[in-house]
Amino acid sequence: MALTGSRPAPTHVLAHLSDTHLIAAGGLLAGHIDTEAQLRKALARVESSGERVDALVLSGDLADSGDPAAYELLRDIVDPVVARLGCALVLTGGNHDERRPMARTLHGIDTDAPQDTVTDCEGLRVIAIDSAVPGYHHGGFTDDQYAWLANELATPAEHGTILVIHHAPITYRSPVMQLLDFDDVDRLRAVVEGSDVRAVLSGHLHVTSFGTLGSVPVIVAGGVSYVDDVGAPRELLMGVDGPQSWNLVEVHADQVVATVVPIEQHETWPALSAAVTEFMETVPEADRREVFSRKRT
Ligand SMILES: [Fe+2]
Ligand SMILES: [Fe+2]
Repeated sequence: MALTGSRPAPTHVLAHLSDTHLIAAGGLLAGHIDTEAQLRKALARVESSGERVDALVLSGDLADSGDPAAYELLRDIVDPVVARLGCALVLTGGNHDERRPMARTLHGIDTDAPQDTVTDCEGLRVIAIDSAVPGYHHGGFTDDQYAWLANELATPAEHGTILVIHHAPITYRSPVMQLLDFDDVDRLRAVVEGSDVRAVLSGHLHVTSFGTLGSVPVIVAGGVSYVDDVGAPRELLMGVDGPQSWNLVEVHADQVVATVVPIEQHETWPALSAAVTEFMETVPEADRREVFSRKRT
């Protein structure tokens, strides 16, 4: 269908994937999840969407155990996709990552310092900050990271800022995950308050979830590798092989919209017949809502 939308197109489009938990050499997560296949399927869906992606965002737990070979595998899988999309690649670490092998492979430097990055996507600033606390699974920033972030945010960007933080700064239902959450949400909220931050993109929870950090939306991408079964009682932490997903994040002049994209390709059918779409193309734009929206008896 060649119809253009009746709303302005987004200024920027981000494909947000999280928690790939990659295992190299065909290893299986929990004995049955093929993490490489999951990432390949997710990226195939990014490409098949036909969206003009400005940045591919991977928000941590890139590797399941910090294995250097897993980061090599990540590069092998992701780099060709980024090249075909012609987009930026934004990466940050999570609690399952290890900084030195991640920095060596993904950033080309030998260090265990966090690799916090600022990426300019045509005026949209994407800041990725590594919230992994070395030696622990909960999240947080060092004093230096807070200072660095405040300094970056001191100057607004043309289209505002998207923050990428593995540990979602929201209260999730699981008592177990609350022991592993971002440790000082109040301090982060204070840094973000009054800045040009328009959304926080996170992972770690292995579910699609939404919350707020002050007035800023927090958008959590469900896991690419596996998902937490939200249908189970909150005291339990039950992994499930499905429904894995990623988020299509569309940044508009006046809003940020996230849409969940299931990784599994199910059978589809045209919800509109070809005859209807062809007819609609002949209707003048000013008449299209009346023609298309009106109920017919
Ligand atoms: Fe994870
Ligand atoms: Fe995590």
